Amino acid sequence: MHRGRLVIGVSGGSGPVMAVHLLRALRAHTELELHLILSHAAVRTLQLEAPELSLDEVRALADCVHDFRDVAAAPASGSWRCEGMVVIPASMHTCAAIAHSLADNLLVRAADVNLKERRKVIIVPRETPLHLGHLRTLATLAEIGTIIVPPMPAFYARPKTIEDVLQQLSGKVLDLLGIEHQLGMRWSGPEPHDG
Ligand SMILES: Cc1cc2nc3c(=O)[nH]c(=O)nc-3n(C[C@H](O)[C@H](O)[C@H](O)COP(=O)(O)O)c2cc1C
Repeated sequence: MHRGRLVIGVSGGSGPVMAVHLLRALRAHTELELHLILSHAAVRTLQLEAPELSLDEVRALADCVHDFRDVAAAPASGSWRCEGMVVIPASMHTCAAIAHSLADNLLVRAADVNLKERRKVIIVPRETPLHLGHLRTLATLAEIGTIIVPPMPAFYARPKTIEDVLQQLSGKVLDLLGIEHQLGMRWSGPEPHDG
């Protein structure tokens, strides 16, 4: 029996820190073996948006880091068992590629394989505003079975910091994966003094 595995795909949408936060949350709350795939654009966005984090630090958050170009790596096959995949952030390019099985890199191939094997694929798309082509792509992704989790702040939790927003998002993804956690805030109705 293998330890459960999860693939985390990071593409070049804004906000690779969302993936960093999620990897840390998964590490803290599960025994899952974490398999990371970073697109070339994700490496670039990390450098530009989070220069305080080295690439090695990010890679160290996973148990295994796969080469984005290596379509022969383990996650490229449906016979390699895993629990599913999270794509965070998912650029519109990667969303479109997954929607149409344009699997010429390992990230898209792994998502395609998880979908054909009927495993959970959670997509955190990042773009705004969205044109009709983006919306059609997201609709196709929903139709083929992905779960779409736009990184929208939960204002009912009254976030004060970016860390608050990231916690809520990681908590939502962990909920969808069925992992117990204490991240973020769960709504339990208004307080009496909230009117
Ligand atoms: C700093 C930065 C931020 C970006 N933000 C987004 C974004 O939010 N959404 C998006 O679809 N593309 C964004 N892009 C463009 C993608 O990185 C680009 O389309 C890339 O080719 C995507 O490749 P990938 O899907 O293989 O990662 C951004 C690029 C940079 C450099």
